[in-house]
Amino acid sequence: MFVKNKIIDQVSILTIQREDALNAVNPDVLKELYSMLEKQIRDRNISSIIITGSGEKAFIAGADIKLMKGYDVEQAYKFGKLGQKLTMAIENSSKPVIAAVNGFALGGGCEIAISCHIRYASENAFFAQPEVKLGIIPGWGGTQRLPRIVGKGNAIELIIGGHMINSKEALRIGLVNKIVSSEKLMDESINFCKELQKNGPNSISNSLKCINNSYDYSLIDGLEIELEAFSNSFGSKEANEGLSAFVDKRKPKFKK
Ligand code: CAA
Repeated sequence: MFVKNKIIDQVSILTIQREDALNAVNPDVLKELYSMLEKQIRDRNISSIIITGSGEKAFIAGADIKLMKGYDVEQAYKFGKLGQKLTMAIENSSKPVIAAVNGFALGGGCEIAISCHIRYASENAFFAQPEVKLGIIPGWGGTQRLPRIVGKGNAIELIIGGHMINSKEALRIGLVNKIVSSEKLMDESINFCKELQKNGPNSISNSLKCINNSYDYSLIDGLEIELEAFSNSFGSKEANEGLSAFVDKRKPKFKK
């Protein structure tokens, strides 16, 4: 088992456990993480998912370089496909996925982090897309998602420079949402997930869907999709509860 699952107050924590390789990811890790993620997304008792790395040094130090050294074009394609399948599943998850980045998030590790909806980083976190230093390029979405998150200029600097940045710099360029001390990283991530439990679950998943669509559609088409999701929510139990609670001056109680 490469991925440990712990559930706290309906928050599912997926921890990559390959500490002796700084949680570097091979195809088995990718497959396990994918199937556990899908299971958590389907589980009605889970509200949010946190992805983190085991130990105090690394979130994920990237794809397994020792393994990739022997890869030919076909094997690399399959490995890339597997990583992209996972990062797409994270990004398209109907439940919020938070990366609790507790150390190195390099290469594929950074790519997994940026496919998550939110990134909380510990003070000792480092980020990089160092692939060019290995004579390769990012393969799990780095060239596509990074520019969308930090802007084209910052993404180009990171990807062709290959250098590491610390959590303060990551915060400055919008790569992470928040910096937290190592000791408090998991508690803060769980607390954020618990805050989300007070909001309408369908409203959250519809918002995530519309935000993801903003990448794939023109503004006009994206606005149409938003308008449909907005209007369709009216008359739903969730909207009735949320709107009535405001008028009745009470806290809403949303059904999971
Ligand atoms: N793959 C395989 N093994 C890795 C690894 C990786 N990505 N990163 C670290 N390890 C292993 C090391 O080989 C070492 O194992 P051994 O003790 O058996 O030699 C162990 O983890 C500890 O690492 P270090 O001794 O190197 O620890 P350090 O503190 O001196 O350095 C580090 C830490 C700066 C993160 C360094 O390990 C490093 O640069 N790792 C590689 C990071 C990298 O380039 N990642 C990108 C991979 S390419 C990719 O991910 C492509 C993609 O887009 C999918």
